[in-house]
Amino acid sequence: MTLIEWRNEFSLGIPSVDHEHRELIELINTTHARLRAGAQHAEVEDFLGEIFARISAHFALEERTMLLLGYLEYWGHKADHERLLDQLRDIMEDFETSDALDVDALSTRLDDWFTIHFRTFDARLHQRVH
Ligand SMILES: [Fe+2]
Ligand SMILES: [Fe+2]
Repeated sequence: MTLIEWRNEFSLGIPSVDHEHRELIELINTTHARLRAGAQHAEVEDFLGEIFARISAHFALEERTMLLLGYLEYWGHKADHERLLDQLRDIMEDFETSDALDVDALSTRLDDWFTIHFRTFDARLHQRVH
């Protein structure tokens, strides 16, 4: 089962950004499927690490673009990015200490967050950029 289905409303009409967003969704879906299939502790750590790294890199790129533009909504947009990164850090820390990972909770969080963020903050940013 695919966790996040790409929907037309996610498309911002900028090929490079849409491409990155599609790649993030694909990574989340692949990770979700592997976690669901049962993975060893070290593998789960790798998956979480990769998700965190790729998402952070995408956010950093958007934040650099906003700074260069003197974009007014920079702080609000960045705060929403930080909110997800903080949640992911908490999930990773919990996993380190308890070895327990609630796959469904993680998936739902990512799904909800991206679906809303694409349609709001990212849509407004990319309307401004192009
Ligand atoms: Fe984005
Ligand atoms: Fe964003």
